[in-house]
Amino acid sequence: MNEDIEIESRDLNLWYGDVQALKNVTIAVPENKVTAVIGPSGRCKSTFIRCINRMNDLIKDCRITGELLFGGRNIYDRDADVVAIRKNIGMVFQKPNPFPMSIYDNIAYGPRVHGISGKHKLDEVMETSLMAAALWDEVEGKLDISALDLSGGQQQRLCIARTLAVKPEVILFDEPCSALDPISTAKIEDLIGELKRDYTIVIVTHNMQQAARVSDYTAFFLIGEMIELGKTKQIFENPEKKSTEDYITGRFG
Ligand SMILES: Nc1ncnc2c1ncn2[C@@H]1O[C@H](COP(=O)(O)OP(=O)(O)O)[C@@H](O)[C@H]1O
Ligand SMILES: [Mg+2]
Repeated sequence: MNEDIEIESRDLNLWYGDVQALKNVTIAVPENKVTAVIGPSGRCKSTFIRCINRMNDLIKDCRITGELLFGGRNIYDRDADVVAIRKNIGMVFQKPNPFPMSIYDNIAYGPRVHGISGKHKLDEVMETSLMAAALWDEVEGKLDISALDLSGGQQQRLCIARTLAVKPEVILFDEPCSALDPISTAKIEDLIGELKRDYTIVIVTHNMQQAARVSDYTAFFLIGEMIELGKTKQIFENPEKKSTEDYITGRFG
């Protein structure tokens, strides 16, 4: 890869209790590109992506060895600043999960936690985040309505805007379209294409067409192991590993 690397996992292992879920996962994620993580369900894609911003910390009996480098520093170092890591590496989940509050308060939540409070500053964050998430035109003038009154697709774009509001460097998407209709899905896919200009993106998807459409690089996961990583075109047209080819051509999964 001739790219600047933003995130790198080195020999990452993860256990849930006695059960090993990730095995020696070594991956480099280039800056300002979209890297897709694909594989059949239950193959530790979410487990892996959660490692990137230490979301697995929240799971009891979850143990991790190896390194996850972000900007050259291991985020699992004992003195790593988890709050800063989660600010810099945002995450969008499978099911839109806006807070049960107004659109405005959803977006303002993160900046407020990080000490931004003036109305002028918050208004500015509001507009830039909602614009960048392609939602501004649909909600301008009604920021005080409940986020729960938005459609599913709008809620997911709100969650993306909420992530952008704290100015991250990386955005992790875990199957962000699997609860959405095709039109909302297309909007999110277009948005991901826009966002990579300013952010590094990792997206988990079980939808191979989606991976082919949105990503620059693709990593194929099978039973906790990263089988193959390459340019998306190469992975889909000329995979090196037999199991990648079998999956891509629909022989299993
Ligand atoms: N919190 C957890 N505790 C124990 N096992 C888990 C937990 N989360 C996931 N697993 C197990 O890890 C494996 C991979 O799950 P997951 O990462 O969600 O797969 P994927 O996202 O590829 O569908 C599954 O066998 C699942 O049951
Ligand atoms: Mg998953």
